Amino acid sequence: MTTSSSAEAAQQGRPWWADATGYEVYLRSFADGTGDGLGDLRGLRERLDHLEWLGVDLVWVTPFYPSPMHDHGYDVADYTGVDPRFGDLADFDALVAAVHARGLRLVIDLVPNHTSSAHPWFAAARSSRDNPYRDYYIWRDPAADGGPPNNWTSHFGGPAWTYDEATGQYWLHLFLPEQPDLNWRNPAVAAEFDAILRFWLERGVDGFRIDVAHMLVKHPDYPDLPLAAEPQRSPQGTTSEHLSLDHIYDVDQPEVLDVYRRWRKIADAYGALLLGEVYVLDIDRLARYVVDRDGLHLSFWFAPLHLGWDVARLRTALREGAAVAPGSVSWVLASHDRPRPPTRFGGGDLGRACSLAATTLLLGLPGTPFLFQGEELGLTDGELTLAEAQDPVALHTGDPRAGRDGCRTPIPWEPGAGHGFTTAPEPWLAFGRRTPADTVAVQRADEDSWLHRYRALLAARRAHPDLRTGEAVWLTDDGPVLAYRRGAAVVAANCGDEPASLDLPEGTWTVRFGTDRQREAAQVAGAVDLAPTEAVILTRE
Ligand code: GLC
Repeated sequence: MTTSSSAEAAQQGRPWWADATGYEVYLRSFADGTGDGLGDLRGLRERLDHLEWLGVDLVWVTPFYPSPMHDHGYDVADYTGVDPRFGDLADFDALVAAVHARGLRLVIDLVPNHTSSAHPWFAAARSSRDNPYRDYYIWRDPAADGGPPNNWTSHFGGPAWTYDEATGQYWLHLFLPEQPDLNWRNPAVAAEFDAILRFWLERGVDGFRIDVAHMLVKHPDYPDLPLAAEPQRSPQGTTSEHLSLDHIYDVDQPEVLDVYRRWRKIADAYGALLLGEVYVLDIDRLARYVVDRDGLHLSFWFAPLHLGWDVARLRTALREGAAVAPGSVSWVLASHDRPRPPTRFGGGDLGRACSLAATTLLLGLPGTPFLFQGEELGLTDGELTLAEAQDPVALHTGDPRAGRDGCRTPIPWEPGAGHGFTTAPEPWLAFGRRTPADTVAVQRADEDSWLHRYRALLAARRAHPDLRTGEAVWLTDDGPVLAYRRGAAVVAANCGDEPASLDLPEGTWTVRFGTDRQREAAQVAGAVDLAPTEAVILTRE
């Protein structure tokens, strides 16, 4: 069992997640324990060694519930079960026990905005207009011309409404037609979810990552959306049609905060974490979810996930996130929904170096950082053909790169057929042309690998409490170097393409982590020189 940062936080009266480093497991692609080509709960349990060795504290696992898998599990047909493809409840309990035995925490994915159309609630709702479950979903009469009730669009393309011939009304779905939106203005829906939260808390989970947490409540009048001046408000949307609208009535409505106030009371009784996927890129709007400290404990701040290698925009994104009710954001550079950072930053070793430098900056800021599986290997997106693509977005647009498959390809644990991911002849999604150098096994044997650098970075965060407490004071306002001080620690990265130097506060500073391993343990005073894409963590005795 490790001496986790969370134990230290608890001793000092901070919540356990305050000092944690999180790790997103995209279950389908992490490890296949049953040999059918699909990642599963057993596979995850068998690979926990890797996570403990890497030095993470908190594991978020993507949905494992029974599902027809139209959106790879984000279409839930039973909120208190396990899909047989991923295991069963006994496997889940064994996973919880194994995670806890290592001193780690487990956060599960809760998908409350929509169910699967295969959920029994929807089957009942659809059966007639006066079925008691009808009002669990959002039904509207056709417009005067017989078309959809308003101009809302689905994130995955096409209208957000589908017509039900049998009952003569449209149902709302902000994602696929197979993902009907729940009606959160119906108290019965809220009561169902209270019970779902308690079900998993009683089974020992340490919290929930809440899928599209900003979307649950819609404007009660369902007005048409105006055209957007800046196509930014709904950054998850993937079609130009969706991005052309200003999403002021379909998402981020004030009443959604009441849902989290209600859940907060449930979660706090178990010491559990509510971590929102609040996909809002306006920091002031995002702040509403966390500032009063009676709703979500943490929200992801997605601005850094939408950036190329652009120092000015990175500076703004980091400063904004660090200033929100300090400690209330979760930092991410990658997820199962976006191209991997080395790909966004130009690919190859340059893209990897930029990613490691940016992650170094995130790891010392107030808040809880997360890695997405494979980030520690410096993986770029897997390269897939359209025939290999699986994501509904790729299939809808006919463009494999528009879809989210590239970041979701299975983890290459070792060289060779199946890559140690599966013993099946084919994985559920192609590996996307991985090389031996991409694999965990090869990188683990090489002290100079990306994997060892990420591990050293996590160890530095764990070893130096100043990186986890107190305010971040920014040391530069412009130029290529981004740097801040926290207590007796300085974190700095050169985000330019020329060598640069940072003036240091008084004293002698020791390099505790360097993206260049050779720098570690060196002492510097006055200023520190940084090569392009180089980052360091320094402490003063
Ligand atoms: C979230 C998930 C994404 C999913 C969507 C709909 O954004 O991260 O993968 O498609 O919600 O549930």
